[in-house]
Amino acid sequence: METLRISNSDGVARITISREKALNALNTQVLDELNVAIDEIDKDKSIRVLVITGQGEKAFVAGADIKEISDLTSETAKAFAEKGQKVFRRLEVLKCPVIAAVNGFALGGGLELALSCDFIVASENAIFGLPEVTLGLIPGFGGTQRLSRIVSPSTARRLIYTGEKLDAKKAYEIGLVTEVVPQEELFKVVDKITGKISALAPVAIAHAKEAIDRGLDHILDEALHLERDFFASLYRTKDVREGTRAFIEKRKPNFVGA
Ligand code: CAA
Repeated sequence: METLRISNSDGVARITISREKALNALNTQVLDELNVAIDEIDKDKSIRVLVITGQGEKAFVAGADIKEISDLTSETAKAFAEKGQKVFRRLEVLKCPVIAAVNGFALGGGLELALSCDFIVASENAIFGLPEVTLGLIPGFGGTQRLSRIVSPSTARRLIYTGEKLDAKKAYEIGLVTEVVPQEELFKVVDKITGKISALAPVAIAHAKEAIDRGLDHILDEALHLERDFFASLYRTKDVREGTRAFIEKRKPNFVGA
């Protein structure tokens, strides 16, 4: 991989987008390599949680690569947006949780990447925005759809129509990020969260993830149906016996992931 750095230890994988000179902007190569990385992570059952971040201290990802997209035609633009949308959707439906560790600018396609993750942990210097309209464009990697599902639709409209940027504190206030931490503590905090998730029952977490993702697009009665099917299917796993027994026996559970 030329544009990504990938690590994997103790069930926690990390993908670092590494085009620091271009503030980690997403070109076709990054999207293609991300697709391959997701394939690998999807196949590796030992991975319990994935962290996505950007190389360096300045940017998570500053958007799609403007130099590349400036020459697109309507046809190639459609293919480019489809590629980004497909890769981000694959990330969104990965079985394991995906955390965006945002360490600087998360603009345009960069924010859209973070929005495809399960949640966002931001450092104090993070800056968020969908500035596509300032380029005569709109978000093309899912921003119009995901931002309006995560923050209120009117807040999403305001941010998308003005292209204005938000600091981490404001992003926290609107519910875009789950926490804001000093930059030097970002990975300490993320490691704490990944440590907790990776010690829990992965099938339960995967089912919770799928229930939330699929449920959001169903009416409530159908979504509740989905939830009880997942709840019931967990009774076929060893981990539910272990988790409930461990509680009763007042000991720590030892989950086996099955
Ligand atoms: N694409 C390509 N290169 C980029 C880039 C991007 N999105 N963002 C930054 N860079 C490059 C700059 O061109 C510059 O390269 P050079 O040194 O070769 O000139 C380098 O990264 C450093 O950037 P700046 O000098 O601009 O740094 P700054 O500190 O002055 O500003 C910034 C930082 C505010 C993030 C500014 O770079 C910026 O506004 N970037 C563009 C943000 C943006 O508009 N993103 C949306 C892209 S469109 C999109 O994402 C479409 C979609 O939905 C799919």
